[in-house]
Amino acid sequence: MDDFERKIIPEIDPALEFRSSFRGTTSVYEVRKDDSVYVLKMADLLYNNGSQQIQTERRALSIAKDFEGITHLVHDYGDVGQFTAILKEYEEGEDLRTLSLLENIIPKDAVEGLKKQVEEIVRNFHQSGVAILDLGEYNFVVSPDFRKITLVDLGACRFADTLPLQEFERLKSLDISDISSMIY
Ligand SMILES: Nc1ncnc2c1ncn2[C@@H]1O[C@H](COP(=O)(O)OP(=O)(O)OP(=O)(O)O)[C@@H](O)[C@H]1O
Ligand SMILES: [Mg+2]
Repeated sequence: MDDFERKIIPEIDPALEFRSSFRGTTSVYEVRKDDSVYVLKMADLLYNNGSQQIQTERRALSIAKDFEGITHLVHDYGDVGQFTAILKEYEEGEDLRTLSLLENIIPKDAVEGLKKQVEEIVRNFHQSGVAILDLGEYNFVVSPDFRKITLVDLGACRFADTLPLQEFERLKSLDISDISSMIY
């Protein structure tokens, strides 16, 4: 842990214990609180792109609070000092990109089930007026038994009520083509 995490994470919530950092454009940390593991996602308010992503994720998570296959919101810290932050469920496993690089590690008989889950996740969002737009393999975590796949990043979503219908339809079709080109 470097000085940044040591100083900033307790300012967000003194009950959070830093465990590790994830790679991302925002700051994403595995943390522990009251004996459970969560993900803290935060951005500097001066960094427009990052704080906008968190704001977008808040809205998407509130729409998706009953969906399966995502990491739900646990706590919204809002703006704390210079930062904006959310706490989400942690999903144990490995991201799909890393697994895809280790060829043939996902059992053949698991792939179809994973694809169906991804399609269902995307369908639920689309039906609720959300296009996801960042359906890359890094944003999916596959469980250690390869039977469950979870979308962990909703920071790039676009919402139907902010777009012309035709544009929303175009974004939905981009999502569909993204998931059809995922490797597994
Ligand atoms: N809830 C979670 N459970 C497990 N792993 C997670 C979770 N959230 C994020 N991760 C891991 O952390 C990485 C970065 O998280 P996330 O994609 O949310 O950050 P980001 O800043 O939006 O990244 P980018 O903009 O590069 O997509 C993910 O690719 C994933 O490997
Ligand atoms: Mg991401």
